[in-house]
Amino acid sequence: MLTAARNDLLTRVGPGTPMGDLLRRYWQPIGGASELSQNPVKPIRLMGENLVLYKDRSGTFGLVDRHCPHRRADMSYGWVEDSGIRCSYHGWRYDETGACIEQPYEDTVSPKPSKAGCEIKAYPVREMAGLLWAYMGPLPAPELPEWEPFTWKNGFREIVLADVPCNWFQAQENSIDPVHFEWMHDNWSNRMKGDDGNAPKHLKLKFEEFEHGFTYKRVREGQSEEDRYWTVGRVALWPNGFYLGRHFEWRVPVDDENTLSVAWFFVRVPKGREPYVQNAVPTWKSPIKGDDGRWITSHVINQDIVAWVGQGAIADRTKEHLRSSDIGITMMRNRFFEELEAIAAGREPKGVIRDPKRARAIELPDMARELNTGGITLAEFQNDPLLRQRLREFRHHYGQPPEVRAAFAEAMGISAS
Ligand code: FES
Ligand SMILES: [Fe+2]
Repeated sequence: MLTAARNDLLTRVGPGTPMGDLLRRYWQPIGGASELSQNPVKPIRLMGENLVLYKDRSGTFGLVDRHCPHRRADMSYGWVEDSGIRCSYHGWRYDETGACIEQPYEDTVSPKPSKAGCEIKAYPVREMAGLLWAYMGPLPAPELPEWEPFTWKNGFREIVLADVPCNWFQAQENSIDPVHFEWMHDNWSNRMKGDDGNAPKHLKLKFEEFEHGFTYKRVREGQSEEDRYWTVGRVALWPNGFYLGRHFEWRVPVDDENTLSVAWFFVRVPKGREPYVQNAVPTWKSPIKGDDGRWITSHVINQDIVAWVGQGAIADRTKEHLRSSDIGITMMRNRFFEELEAIAAGREPKGVIRDPKRARAIELPDMARELNTGGITLAEFQNDPLLRQRLREFRHHYGQPPEVRAAFAEAMGISAS
């Protein structure tokens, strides 16, 4: 249980809030680069700031204020040019650093080389692994971490986004919550199929901290301490991610009561299908609400979203009752409180990387590294219950578009239907 004040500290992310300051010290994934290929200008709200993401005709990405510094027109109705984005009201043009580089009427009647004072707020954007990453903190920006899975070859990757109407922190607490797999995914999925059977119980949990987050480890009925679920475990990635061996999830705050869920998936093609080169990583938006107005419950992350939004727009942690299954949650909260103090004292927070060499191919605890890097045959895929299902359908998020399914099937050498 937390006091209301401590709950506010964890959850409020607007400019100038302690947690907003902390999360701004890290590069945040904000979408897929492929989204901007179709439409190069996209309005986006991040940590309570209204912004516009764009890709100019030279391929440079920018993230600028939603409002033009001239007279506040909406930059999401601007257009991109060879360099930068131009406001559609009076044609002022800005580059990705925020510099105003053209003011057509002023340049005609009294050209001045300097347009100092007319800068638009701008944040650095980088592309990595098909994702676009933004850094909204104090400069100089730290290194953008290259997680080792981003370097894997011969894989089909896809990015799935979802707009989730609740606070980011309850979603992140789900990243360090092993027992929910048994109930929310296994047993609930059984009930939806009319099956009263229960999945293997959790018997033992362990939570550990490392530089880039926490691992949780577990033994369930039928498993032992030799199992990788205990020897390796899964990763609650600091500060707002989750890594499960074949995919990442991030919970990116839109504002205090909304979260952009960003997930990145990798499946290595079967042996014999190499070399497989994916030129662009498809990005798609997963709906979370059905036509009946209820949350969609058929897919794994949709089930998680039911938990997150069910806790309220901002979970009231003054009313909770934490028990031993929640030890990891308490560890994570305490780490956040300590890091809030660290940045208030002028120290660098946990996991920020300044050395470029240390930012390359960072290995995370990974239960499936050999499979993802060495590969297995299609027959071996078919013999593994989880992987067989992965070939048959995309169970993580509702609504995979048919063209993404077709591209996946083509990569894997299976039928699309
Ligand atoms: S408001 Fe943008 S150029 Fe005038
Ligand atoms: Fe889950």
